[in-house]
Amino acid sequence: WVASADRHEDFLQCLLYQNSNAISKVIYTPINSSYSSVLQFSIRNGRFNTSATPKPLVIVTVLNEAHIQAVIACSQKHGLQIRVRSGGHDYEGLSYVSVLPFVIIDLINMRTVTVDVGNKIAWAQAGATLGEVYYRIAEKSRTLAFPAGVCPTVGSGGHISGGGHGMMMRKYGLAADHIIDAKLIDVKGRILDRASMGEDLFWAIRGGGGNTFGVVVAWKLELVTVPPTVTVFNVTRTLEQNATKLVHQWQSAIRKFDEDLFSRIFLSRVNTSQEGKTTILAAYTSLFLGGVDRLLSMMQQSFPQLGLVKEDCIEMSWIESTVYFASFPRNTSLDVLLDRSPGYTMSFKAKTDFVTEPIPEIALEGIWDRLNQLDAEAAQLQFTAYGGKMDEISETSIPFPHRAGILFQIHYAVVWEQKTASWIRKLYSYMTPYVTKNPRQAYIDYRDLDVGMNNLGNTSYKQARVWGTKYFKNNFDRLVHVKTKVDPANFFRNEQSIPPLTPW
Ligand code: FDA
Repeated sequence: WVASADRHEDFLQCLLYQNSNAISKVIYTPINSSYSSVLQFSIRNGRFNTSATPKPLVIVTVLNEAHIQAVIACSQKHGLQIRVRSGGHDYEGLSYVSVLPFVIIDLINMRTVTVDVGNKIAWAQAGATLGEVYYRIAEKSRTLAFPAGVCPTVGSGGHISGGGHGMMMRKYGLAADHIIDAKLIDVKGRILDRASMGEDLFWAIRGGGGNTFGVVVAWKLELVTVPPTVTVFNVTRTLEQNATKLVHQWQSAIRKFDEDLFSRIFLSRVNTSQEGKTTILAAYTSLFLGGVDRLLSMMQQSFPQLGLVKEDCIEMSWIESTVYFASFPRNTSLDVLLDRSPGYTMSFKAKTDFVTEPIPEIALEGIWDRLNQLDAEAAQLQFTAYGGKMDEISETSIPFPHRAGILFQIHYAVVWEQKTASWIRKLYSYMTPYVTKNPRQAYIDYRDLDVGMNNLGNTSYKQARVWGTKYFKNNFDRLVHVKTKVDPANFFRNEQSIPPLTPW
C-alpha cells in the first residue's frame, strides 16, 4: 500500500505538471468528498460495489483529449493500470475494478452527440449513453435511427467496442457494423482517426473488446432509416397456456421471420397467486419496422401458433419504442433517455450461449425444472432471434463472429448470491449438448470471466486463446496481431483484453 500511495502522489504531480488545462478540477482521490459518489454513479453491477471491492487510486472525469493523453502518459511513467469507463455496464466490473493499482479514465463528461441529417451520420463521444444517442438523433429526424442496444444507460464506448446488438439487429446488424470512423488515443498518446490508424486497427476496435487498443474518444455512426410508424408487442404465455410447445415452435418459426421483425423471449418463473403458486412465463417481445397490418399477416404466415391479435400490438414512432423497451410506462417523456442513472443497481451474474438447432421440448422442460429450483424472478433467460441481416454479414467483417447459422442467442442472468452462482454454472453445464461447440461461443459485451481470463501480470497467448476463440473464433488471431503492432508492451489490459505476442 505504501508503494502504491507513493506512486499515486507521483502520478498526481505528473498529471498536474503535464496538464494545467483545468485537470485539477476533475481529479478525484479517496480523500476527496465526492470520490465515492463519482465512483458509484456509473457502477451497474452491485456485485462490484462492496467494501471488499478494490478501489481506484484516482478517478479522472476527463473533459478533453489532452486530459486523456496526460493520464495515459503519467500512468505509464508511474506503473499504474488504466481502466476506461464510459457507461459502467461491464458485466464483470472491469471498467472500474482491478486487483493491480489503477486509475479510472471516466468519460462521463465527454458525451456530445452531433447529428448530420443530410448525410445520415452522427459523431457520438464515447461517454454518450445509447439513450443520449437515440434522443439526439430523434431531435433532428423521426425517420433516422441507430441500431444498438436496448438499455438507454449503456455507454456507447464499451458497447460498440464489443459489437452491440439490439432491436434492429435482424434488419441492420450490430452497432459496430455501422461505425464508419472513430477517434482513438493510443498508448503513445497519439490521436488517431480511421485514416491514420489504418484498417487493421479500425477493424479491431469495432468489436474486439474495450480497454485493449487505446481509449476510444468518439465514434462516427452511419445512421439507418426507419419508418415513421413501427409496431411493438409483448405477449405472455404460461405453461398452462402451452408455453413449452410455443417456445419449441418459435425456434423453427424464426427462420421464416421477415428481417423487419425482431423477436426475443424472456423466460422466468413467476408467482401466479398469493398462495405462492408459480409457473414458467414466456414473454414474447418484438419490434416490427412497419405497421400493425403487415405484422399481423406476417405472423399469421410464420408463427400462427402464438395467436397474435391486433389488440396485443401498439403502433408508435421508433424513438418511442426505445422508451417502451426500456420498460417505462406508456407516454413517459422522451427526456428519460437522457437520464444516466436508472435509480437502482442490481447485483447479478450472467452468461451467454449460441444455438444453431432447435432445442427439443424435453430439454426445455429441463430448463423449467432448474428455474423452479430458485425463488420466483431470481433468474431470467432471454432467447434472442438472430438471422436476417446477421446471416449476410461475413464473420470476419468485424471481430464479432456470430453470424450465419446462428439461430438464436441465449442470455442467462441470475440475481447474485453464492447459491445462485452455482445454480447458473450448473444450468450452463446442463445446456452443453444444445449449444455451439468447439468453441462454445460467447458474446464479449455480455462478459463472463468463467469462460477464461488472463493472468494480469504476464498474459500468455495460449491462455488467452481459451476465452478469446469463444468470443471471436478465428478473428482472435487477427486481434492478437493488431495488438502486437499497436501496444506490444500490453499497457492497455484487463482480465479479458487481447494479449500481444511476446518474443519470449
Ligand atoms: P463500461 O464503461 O463498463 O465499459 C465496458 C468495457 O469497455 C470495459 O472493459 C471498459 O474498460 C471498456 N471501455 C469503455 N469505454 C471505453 C472507451 N471509450 N475506449 C476503450 N475502452 C472502453 N449489450 C448489448 O449488446 N445489447 C443490449 O441490449 C445490452 N443491454 C444491457 C443492459 C444492461 C442493464 C447492462 C448492464 C448491459 C447491457 N449490455 C447490452 C451489455 C453492454 O453492451 C456491455 O456491458 C458494454 O460493454 C457496456 O458499455 P459501457 O460503456 O456502459 O460499459
